[in-house]
Amino acid sequence: MLLSDKYAPKTLDDVVGNATSIQRLRLFGLDAQKGLVGRPLIVCGPSGVGKTCAVNALANTFGFETLELNASDYRDSETLRRTLLPAGNTNNLFKKKVLIILDEIDELSNKFDSGAERVITEMAKKSKQPVIFIANDFWDRKITFLREIAEKCEFKKLGVDEISRTLRRILSAQGEEMPDDLINEISLKSSGDLSGAINDLELMMGADPQLRENLGYRSRKVEIFGVLDKIFQTNSFATARAAAQDADVDLSMLINWIEENVPNRYATKKGRYDAMENLSSASKYLESASRTGHYDYLKYSSIFASAGVSLSGGGDFSMLKQYSFPANIRFLSHTKKSRNEMRTIISKLVYKIHAGKQNVSNTYITMFKLMIQRAGQEEGMEKVYDFFESKYSLEKGEVDAIASSKKY
Ligand SMILES: Nc1ncnc2c1ncn2[C@@H]1O[C@H](COP(=O)(O)OP(=O)(O)O)[C@@H](O)[C@H]1O
Ligand SMILES: [Mg+2]
Repeated sequence: MLLSDKYAPKTLDDVVGNATSIQRLRLFGLDAQKGLVGRPLIVCGPSGVGKTCAVNALANTFGFETLELNASDYRDSETLRRTLLPAGNTNNLFKKKVLIILDEIDELSNKFDSGAERVITEMAKKSKQPVIFIANDFWDRKITFLREIAEKCEFKKLGVDEISRTLRRILSAQGEEMPDDLINEISLKSSGDLSGAINDLELMMGADPQLRENLGYRSRKVEIFGVLDKIFQTNSFATARAAAQDADVDLSMLINWIEENVPNRYATKKGRYDAMENLSSASKYLESASRTGHYDYLKYSSIFASAGVSLSGGGDFSMLKQYSFPANIRFLSHTKKSRNEMRTIISKLVYKIHAGKQNVSNTYITMFKLMIQRAGQEEGMEKVYDFFESKYSLEKGEVDAIASSKKY
């Protein structure tokens, strides 16, 4: 079990920070308990500050049942209608209240058909049960319709002190120790995301001090654990492939993570063996891409590492053990300076290539690095600099930065 699950707040008192909003949640709960169901709340704020866990803690505090909807429940308005309207309509005095939670509503709305807005509005207005929406961005245009029917309850980033205090509490509950300066560094680099900080804490417990350089690096959106979960759990080619594509880590790093964790997830010998075979193909293609300059090989590599591994499990996986941190990897972007420089390069390329940031940073940078190495050897660096200058407006220093990036 992950530390962030183990130490998730049980009641509202356990939620760290955002006191005013927690107080608002408490009043909402008290009202609902008395049968006063008013306007829904829309809990909003950046990720990892405790929105989801606070709403669940609210249900727990007041003994409400919950009906929690997420991405996969939102296929069409008809399904929504069938789930939500009856739930909001029941009002049995002797039964527990049901808190209706629509989490990450701003992301789910990508999938809404036009009827869904109407169903949600109708439910929100008529429901006899308390309703809470959760969103990252209150101002997202896709949820404009919610702003009129729900009351804003904002969560802000947590303070460094709030985060470090929480980390210390978890450490002592675990009976573990960690140097003060490391705790402070994790807290600082989490930029207000407690969930990310707890995950970093978990990674650093007992880990090689060298890994410090990666703190705060992991994307807050698609964390490596989430990507691994998808790859190990799914039986679908497309889901696995997409998980690898969305991953905010480069391919060689992803292969390392998967390799390290195959034995933690796949219980059968056959599953492990097949997964390793697929990984070895993935490595071969990665190596070929780098050697021959045929960048299509990267695609195959990614597919073997993701879908190949997924389909090896045969549905037989265990989620009991924690993920372990690959011991032997070299990480990206070692210093703050090079990370910033990379960010500038990526934004230039996004503009020039018309590709998404993720795509540029995962695919193009790797590709360019290989191109620079090869062309540099064959044609000389002057030509390479000229080419990147004229085609992508990259300066000499930036080309060098790509060439020496730690992508692999
Ligand atoms: N304010 C907080 N108080 C206590 N724990 C928190 C808080 N914020 C995050 N956490 C921890 O991080 C985990 C994930 O937080 P979550 O509620 O999913 O954040 P969000 O929904 O805002 O992205 C929780 O299970 C909990 O362990
Ligand atoms: Mg959440």
